[in-house]
Amino acid sequence: MSPFAHITGWGMAVPEKVLTNFELEQMVETTDEWIVSRTGIRERRIVSDDQTTASLATEASRRALEIAKINPGEIDLIIVSTSSPEYLFPATASLVQDRLGAVRAGAFDLLAACTGFIYGLNIATQAIRTGSIRTAIVIGAETLSRFVDWTDRDTCVLFGDGAGAFVLQAGEERAGLLSAVMRSDGSGGDLLYLPGGGSRYPTTIDTVNEGLHNIKMKGREVFRFATRVMAQATKEVVNKAQLSMDDIQLIIPHQANKRIIEVALKKLDFPMERCIVNLDRYGNTSTASIPIATCEAINDGRLKPGDHVVFVGFGGGLTWGAAVARWSGPFPGIKVVRPAFYSLYARLRSIINRVLRRIDAFILGRDNPYT
Ligand SMILES: CC(C)(COP(=O)(O)OP(=O)(O)OC[C@H]1O[C@@H](n2cnc3c(N)ncnc32)[C@H](O)[C@@H]1OP(=O)(O)O)[C@@H](O)C(=O)NCCC(=O)NCCS
Repeated sequence: MSPFAHITGWGMAVPEKVLTNFELEQMVETTDEWIVSRTGIRERRIVSDDQTTASLATEASRRALEIAKINPGEIDLIIVSTSSPEYLFPATASLVQDRLGAVRAGAFDLLAACTGFIYGLNIATQAIRTGSIRTAIVIGAETLSRFVDWTDRDTCVLFGDGAGAFVLQAGEERAGLLSAVMRSDGSGGDLLYLPGGGSRYPTTIDTVNEGLHNIKMKGREVFRFATRVMAQATKEVVNKAQLSMDDIQLIIPHQANKRIIEVALKKLDFPMERCIVNLDRYGNTSTASIPIATCEAINDGRLKPGDHVVFVGFGGGLTWGAAVARWSGPFPGIKVVRPAFYSLYARLRSIINRVLRRIDAFILGRDNPYT
């Protein structure tokens, strides 16, 4: 029988700097009362100058690896879901691979906006289920504060920075992701997008002056779309897992807006007490919101082995999706892992590789490499 993809490790990383609604009142024409009543958000985390999407992703991954008790050298695949990569290329996932010292891993980025983590979980699960790989790490990481127009009150109150990671490992018992749905409707691409900096509008003085490098959003339409698809996708994915809503102990939705979550749960006739909401403290961290909320749910004892949990999200693209998992936790057994050793090893290895490449170029550089 094909193996299941157990979720055996989890970790999160959020910047220390907190930006409250009261501080936003000093920046744009808004009020704490407006933001809380329309969104549920009270504060969000913002990266410092020396933090990046890869640094948050690496920190979250190290924590997840410690819980799973595996060394980076055992990872076969790294997927970083992000809409705020460090560069257009190379992939942020490759930067994480280098920093972790995951010497055997393939690495790529995935862009499905706020739904990306669900897409990534499903892709990694399928790779494990076919037997192609045994161990993957899926990361949702964002530094959207770098792309927000801090003079636009429609968007700047919503987003925050952070990262979350899951380790997936092949296991015999029926656990991990049981079903998933992934959907997209590109006709709504302009409802939530960042036009500049890609091949359509490469960066020029004009694109900068026109503000094309900032997030644009039609909030009301996104709201309508989100409430429609969240309930729909949840029902579909639960059916697909051959379960009923009564079998679901917990829903962990994308943390965009408390009102969206409330409307979706009402449509599902599912109690709010069995849903994780932490957007009051982090805002919308896009693709990082589901793994961050999961880490907090586990720490608070709200997600336990044997529970069925639904992850459900939506976002730019438009994209949406859901997944059902049977929670199990780390594999039993005592294994010594050395994250500090590996970090040091990864740094040394990276430096040595760069130096060797230079020596190589110096010695062989005079020869024509194409002959
Ligand atoms: C953005 C959102 C909170 C706006 O709430 P809303 O109730 O729909 O508010 P509206 O857009 O109708 O705006 C109502 C008024 O508030 C104003 N407003 C917008 N942002 C404001 C802010 N931060 N502070 C105060 N007033 C604000 C608008 O300008 C508008 O004023 P007007 O009536 O004079 O034109 C809501 O539409 C939403 O959450 N949408 C989904 C967004 C989302 O989740 N995006 C990420 C998806 S992954």
